[in-house]
Amino acid sequence: PAKTNFVIAIDGFSSCGKSTVAKALAKELNFVFIDSGAMYRAVTLYFLRKNIDFSNLKEVDSALSKIQIDFVPNGSNTEIHLNGTDVSAEIRQMYVSEQVSEVAAIKAVRVAMVAQQQLLGARRNIVMDGRDIGTTVFPDADLKLFMTADPEIRAQRRFIELQAKGEHTTMEEVRANLSHRDLIDSTREESPLRQADDALVIDNSNLSQEEQLNLVIAKYQAIKLQN
Ligand code: DC
Repeated sequence: PAKTNFVIAIDGFSSCGKSTVAKALAKELNFVFIDSGAMYRAVTLYFLRKNIDFSNLKEVDSALSKIQIDFVPNGSNTEIHLNGTDVSAEIRQMYVSEQVSEVAAIKAVRVAMVAQQQLLGARRNIVMDGRDIGTTVFPDADLKLFMTADPEIRAQRRFIELQAKGEHTTMEEVRANLSHRDLIDSTREESPLRQADDALVIDNSNLSQEEQLNLVIAKYQAIKLQN
C-alpha cells in the first residue's frame, strides 16, 4: 500500500535545539514527537543501574531483551517509561549524559533502537529527532533537517538548562561533555552522525525559535504543494 504518513527527520549535534524545534513543529502540525535520544538514554540508565559491562556483548544482549521503552502522553508532555516507570527526569542527569554516547555506539543497542523507531513511525505522522534519523532510521523521510549551532552557544544553552533543573555543574564540564559526545557520535562505526545529502541545514546560532519554526513550516508547505 502507498505510504500515507509524513515523516520529518531532525538530526544534528547535541544541544543544537533539535528537540525544541521538533516539539514546536509536532504541536503546530499535530504530529507525534519522538525523541530518539531519550531511548538511548533510557537504555544507558538501565545499563548503569544493573552494572552492565558495556564491552560484554552477551551481557548487553541479555540486558536489551529485558528493556521495554514506551512513550506515554501526559497532558501536553510525553513521558518516557523504562519497564513501566517514568524516567523522564532521571535520563537527563549528567551521570547518564556522560555514558550515553558509549552506549549509543554499541551495534546491538542501535539495531534494537532503530527497529523500534521504525515501528513508531511506520503509520503515523511523526517528527523524530536524533543523530541518524534522516540517514539510517528513515532514509526516505519526507522532510529532513540538519541543525547546527556555534559550540559556545550550545554549551551556554545546555548550562542554563541544567542550572534550571538544579544540577550542579560548571561551564567547563558542560563544554567537555558536549565535545566528548560530538566526537564519539560523529566518529563511531555504526551509523555515525552525518548530514543527509537532502537535508535542509539550519544554523540556529542567531535564530529565534519562531524564526526556525517559520523556516521549517515554509519548507513543509512547499513539499506538501509538490505532492
Ligand atoms: O539527543 P540527546 O543528546 O538526548 O542524545 C543522547 C545520546 O544518544 C547522544 O550522545 C547520541 C545518542 N543518539 C544516537 O546515537 N542516535 C540517535 N538517533 C539519538 C541519540
